[in-house]
Amino acid sequence: MSFIDLLAHHSGVLRCPLCLGPMRTVESRSIVCGSRHCFDISKLGYVNLLNRSMQSKYDKRLFDSRRRMAVSGFFEPLNQALVEGIRGRHSPGQPLTILDAGCGEGSLLSGIRMKLEQDLCHPPLAVGIDLSKEGISLAAAEYKGAMWFVADIANCPFASRQFHFVLNVLSPANYTEFQRIAAAGGTVLKVIPGSEYLMELRDLLYKGSARKTYSNDHTLAQFQKYFERTEVKRVRYRVSLNPSLLDSLVDMTPLSWGVTEQQRQKALQLCGTAITVDFMVLLGQSL
Ligand SMILES: C[S@@+](CC[C@H](N)C(=O)[O-])C[C@H]1O[C@@H](n2cnc3c(N)ncnc32)[C@H](O)[C@@H]1O
Ligand SMILES: [Zn+2]
Repeated sequence: MSFIDLLAHHSGVLRCPLCLGPMRTVESRSIVCGSRHCFDISKLGYVNLLNRSMQSKYDKRLFDSRRRMAVSGFFEPLNQALVEGIRGRHSPGQPLTILDAGCGEGSLLSGIRMKLEQDLCHPPLAVGIDLSKEGISLAAAEYKGAMWFVADIANCPFASRQFHFVLNVLSPANYTEFQRIAAAGGTVLKVIPGSEYLMELRDLLYKGSARKTYSNDHTLAQFQKYFERTEVKRVRYRVSLNPSLLDSLVDMTPLSWGVTEQQRQKALQLCGTAITVDFMVLLGQSL
């Protein structure tokens, strides 16, 4: 289904980010609320729902690199774990709506949607939001069949209780909003880096400095305050990368912010070394 068709069928999930009223589509050109706040539908197939321009620190180079890594299969075990997490908590035959909050360039959500589509009679509704217009443009250009919006996680442009699953992968969270928009009994799946995430790269770039290690205790405690029946799953695997993918690996992660060109070059020494990919998936139920 095209973005316009999806919008026409599912405009009920939206709410105006300005006055919080319901929204409807107008002649495939825009979406509008009862107070006439109007947002244009881009030709690429997304809508920018930000009322003011907000800067994301993530740029096109980072999203292009994330896309290359995703297409190479780098995130496949994580993708599979999320699909299993959804399958485990969803009753077949029931409708399925998934939001990816902080979806970046959209590869992860699109991959998950396609996998789930195979086992369902009704295709799942997949919706991605991100603060970055560059990320959402890339998502909309490549991945049809999902709805893409430039929007702020802290002011989700959705009516309450709309999503059976809310994904939040390596992105900031707003648990109050996630609780509001998750369906009763819906699940939030938050992915955070595990303590060994890219440890070989971090060793090389930040030997001896505080940035070298991650601690997730605070994130986990916060998550447990908001959601019931929380579970933590670890997804850990190792991947060897060729020089071109190593370059993309450095570019795709905020770890590379502030590193010198010399340090970047050093990362290429990891060619042929198995790199540890380590994620924690937090699953929790919204009441
Ligand atoms: C490390 S990237 C992860 C992107 C994607 N989930 C992935 O794994 O490829 C973090 C993302 O969070 C987005 N982001 C940061 N703050 C946000 C906010 N307040 N609302 C929506 N997205 C936000 C950034 O623009 C960026 O795309
Ligand atoms: Zn409005």
